[in-house]
Amino acid sequence: MRPSARWLVTIAGLALLAGGAIAAGRLALRGRTAAVRADNAAGDTACLSCHGEKGSFEQTAHRLTSRPATRDAIAGSFTQGANVLRTSNPSLHFRMDSTATGFFETAVTGRAPDTAMRSERIDFVTGSRKGQSYLYWHAGDQLYQLPVSYWTGVGWVNSPGYPDGTPYFERPIAPRCLECHASGFQAVTADPAVINRYRRTGVMLGITCETCHGAGRDHVGRERSLLHAVLPPAIVNPARLPRPRQLDGCALCHAGVAAPRTPAFSYVPGQPLERRVEWLARSDTGAIDVHGNQVALLERSRCFRSSLMTCATCHDVHRQQRDLVEFSGRCLSCHAAQSCGLFPRHGQSLVGRCVGCHMPALTSKTILSTSRGHDIRVQVRTHWIKVYPQFQLP
Ligand code: HEC
Ligand code: HEC
Ligand code: HEC
Ligand code: HEC
Ligand code: HEC
Ligand code: HEC
Ligand code: HEC
Repeated sequence: MRPSARWLVTIAGLALLAGGAIAAGRLALRGRTAAVRADNAAGDTACLSCHGEKGSFEQTAHRLTSRPATRDAIAGSFTQGANVLRTSNPSLHFRMDSTATGFFETAVTGRAPDTAMRSERIDFVTGSRKGQSYLYWHAGDQLYQLPVSYWTGVGWVNSPGYPDGTPYFERPIAPRCLECHASGFQAVTADPAVINRYRRTGVMLGITCETCHGAGRDHVGRERSLLHAVLPPAIVNPARLPRPRQLDGCALCHAGVAAPRTPAFSYVPGQPLERRVEWLARSDTGAIDVHGNQVALLERSRCFRSSLMTCATCHDVHRQQRDLVEFSGRCLSCHAAQSCGLFPRHGQSLVGRCVGCHMPALTSKTILSTSRGHDIRVQVRTHWIKVYPQFQLP
């Protein structure tokens, strides 16, 4: 090799190295984030002091998905007469009471005057839209689900999956349940056989900004510092992540069951979800239930496979979205109404109605509550976008 050629190779090598260093530097410049914990959280109030335009988040199902038990948070009625749940067992009913010391569920067994009672206080409320379940502390630091839940449009019901006619207070609340419905609970792992022990301090209820954006104290410090221009943002903006990582940020809670590899609440936004959980083999046969697995259903759709669609194509999680006409408008960012097989017959009247036929609300097979011999099932919006021939216009 002539000396000048060798120089060229060396210079090219150095340039590559420098390029690598700049890329690595960029990564470092974005700053590190961590899973949010009580000791590194900034809290929504701090975030909103600068990002006031995201204030609508505080009224969303995410934010309200777990709350302390207050009269406002509990959807069920405590009015005499409406506060009783009868069961198929004539000698068991439940009574819900609001007292000076809190809200209680009481199982009354036997016939008057020989009745026995078990009363537990409602400590936490989960859910705000279709229904609510209630949790209680027992033996100091163990968390359990209460036997009576609430379903919108029905009222008090047996908790989903509970036997009708039996007073059952023993369903433990595992960390994974809280990971999907709250921002932080610290498990006490003194005895591995007891899966539902938690510290009662440092509990962070509801899904907060930092669940999806990572712990924000460093970011807040940066933005309040005079040196902010040279400090890393130290916060995750999902829009800047590669598509699989964007989906991971939702799949943590919207892809159903998975075997954990690390403890609950350790997922760091922006990192591969496989570090936190191992996905159980997903069958490809349509067996996936519409409840709770929007990711797997969407992944099956031709829309998803043939485009760069993510959840954010349709959802803005910072506000409540209920308008199906607005959602149907999102279809038109990729499709023309003319592409619908029904267009020749129905024309423009299809516009604004795409979702009703191609993402219909279907009955969940997994959420089931039995009350006085009747099954109560819930409807969930399927995310498998396709043709459902049974959905036609007259
Ligand atoms: C003191 C004001 C302030 C506070 C408090 C604050 N931010 Fe920011 N944030 C900003 C500013 C300014 C930017 C734009 C920074 C830039 O473009 O370099 C920003 C950017 C962001 C971004 C986009 C980052 C990117 O790379 O695109 C996210 C996400 C974000 N903030 C979330 C949060 C969250 C979550 C909290 C609460 C933990 C929070 N912010 C608290 C001022 C603040
Ligand atoms: C930490 C767990 C968690 C993460 C992460 C999460 N979700 Fe959710 N999401 C939930 C839970 C729990 C509910 C149901 C809340 C309720 O009704 O109590 C929910 C509800 C929703 C709803 C229904 C809201 C409504 O008002 O009808 C949408 C839409 C949604 N999530 C989209 C997303 C998207 C998109 C992402 C990713 C950007 C995401 N979620 C990330 C747990 C999560
Ligand atoms: C359920 C997950 C989730 C929660 C909770 C959440 N965000 Fe976001 N946030 C996102 C996603 C996803 C994006 C990217 C949206 C996109 O792709 O357009 C985003 C983007 C942002 C951005 C970037 C600028 C913008 O407007 O797109 C800011 C700032 C931000 N969020 C602030 C907040 C604040 C403040 C809160 C709490 C009040 C919050 N977020 C709660 C998921 C979440
Ligand atoms: C893998 C995450 C995950 C786990 C684990 C989980 N949930 Fe959920 N849960 C969700 C999501 C997501 C929704 C809403 C979307 C849906 O139903 O598809 C939801 C819905 C609910 C609702 C109805 C909320 C409403 O406003 O309509 C209740 C109540 C609820 N869950 C309670 C629980 C309880 C109690 C546990 C634990 C014993 C639990 N969930 C375990 C993710 C989870
Ligand atoms: C990000 C772009 C994008 C969005 C948004 C989108 N789609 Fe699609 N969709 C596609 C692509 C690409 C295909 C595949 C077309 C092809 O292969 O010819 C497709 C295919 C379809 C199909 C055929 C499915 C099948 O199994 O044969 C239907 C029906 C459909 N889309 C309806 C909708 C509806 C309804 C909406 C709104 C709820 C929507 N799409 C939103 C890109 C999108
Ligand atoms: C093509 C548009 C589209 C995309 C993409 C999309 N969604 Fe949805 N999503 C909807 C529509 C429409 C609804 C129904 C809203 C309603 O009924 O109020 C919905 C409802 C939901 C609900 C509430 C379900 C229920 O019935 O309680 C959850 C949870 C949800 N989406 C999560 C997600 C997640 C997670 C992703 C990404 C994996 C995603 N969505 C992607 C259109 C979309
Ligand atoms: C009343 C129910 C209904 C409404 C509303 C509706 N569709 Fe359809 N769509 C259908 C049916 C049924 C087919 C299959 C028709 C056929 O093949 O004869 C279809 C076919 C399609 C296809 C073609 C799928 C393929 O085989 O390639 C696309 C794309 C599509 N629709 C998109 C849309 C969009 C976008 C909207 C909203 C502007 C919409 N549809 C509104 C019922 C509906």
